[in-house]
Amino acid sequence: MAAKVAVVTGGNKGIGYGIVRALCKKFEGIVYLTARDEGRGLAAIEDLKKEGLEAKFHLLDVDSLDSIQRFRDYVKSTYGGLDVLVNNAAIAYKVAATEPFAEQAEVSCRVNFIGTLNVCNELFPLMRKHGRVVHVSSSAGHLQRINGQEPESIELRKQFADPELTTPKLIELIDTFVSLAKQAKHRENGWPNSAYGVSKVAVSALTRIQQRELDQSRPGDDIVVNCVHPGYVDTDMTSHKGVLTIDQGADAPSHLALLPPNVKEPRGGYVWHNRAIVDWVNGPTPTIY
Ligand SMILES: NC(=O)c1ccc[n+]([C@@H]2O[C@H](COP(=O)([O-])OP(=O)(O)OC[C@H]3O[C@@H](n4cnc5c(N)ncnc54)[C@H](OP(=O)(O)O)[C@@H]3O)[C@@H](O)[C@H]2O)c1
Repeated sequence: MAAKVAVVTGGNKGIGYGIVRALCKKFEGIVYLTARDEGRGLAAIEDLKKEGLEAKFHLLDVDSLDSIQRFRDYVKSTYGGLDVLVNNAAIAYKVAATEPFAEQAEVSCRVNFIGTLNVCNELFPLMRKHGRVVHVSSSAGHLQRINGQEPESIELRKQFADPELTTPKLIELIDTFVSLAKQAKHRENGWPNSAYGVSKVAVSALTRIQQRELDQSRPGDDIVVNCVHPGYVDTDMTSHKGVLTIDQGADAPSHLALLPPNVKEPRGGYVWHNRAIVDWVNGPTPTIY
């Protein structure tokens, strides 16, 4: 039988590193720590070694289609398939960031949403039976974070929540947000003032679409896609203000990565850091942490 393979994006630090560590302990197969920077990735592999854990490294910049395709070719030719994919890599501008909102909107949506989508588009054809996909979303990725009460926000929530939403339509929605942000008109059109939040709402919406489409295109293959809020975690992204350790933040993502064959739920779900399945459409949004 071919060796099982798990892949984590943005695995060199923070929650991604915690997920790699958890998978090294619990996954019965080969674990790939991927990172956009070779030096940082290899240093993380060395840190794991000091703990007696073994992961393999490969370069993967989710913001580069070329890099994603090179990784896909490598996995295909080396292993022929893939069993676990954890889309963890993301960026978040600090509150004090000086980049204009238009730029923050464009870059956040491109890296966090389009990057995740591109990784999936290239790697999903390699997913084997009982494959498990986890998107690390956020509390900011709950639909109710598009929280306006005016008709424009209500209409946006309706479109995101549409059980028949497609990926092209989702891309169109996010393109509209970015284009409105460039004109400083996103607020009056019902969007929140959070580039990171919109990028994560898109990731959460993508989860539902992908589960529905995989169930249709590969019935019986039991490929499960979920997204997760890992909690408020002590990492560079939170300027180390988070209250959870990276191992605590890795708990729910690694649990979802290791869901047993033919699990009934969650499938296409939005999962909280305590592993609870949360109603993404109607909320209420659980307390932040
Ligand atoms: N920390 C929290 O409280 C919290 C809460 C909710 C959700 N999240 C989500 O959890 C995930 C991990 O966050 P974190 O807190 O661990 O953040 P972090 O410490 O900033 O780590 C982010 C990781 O993503 C990588 N990355 C960024 N852009 C990339 C790209 N283009 N290609 C490949 N890797 C890239 C970074 O690599 P470099 O080292 O090269 O920059 C780093 O390894 C993210 O999806 C984040 O949105 C975090």
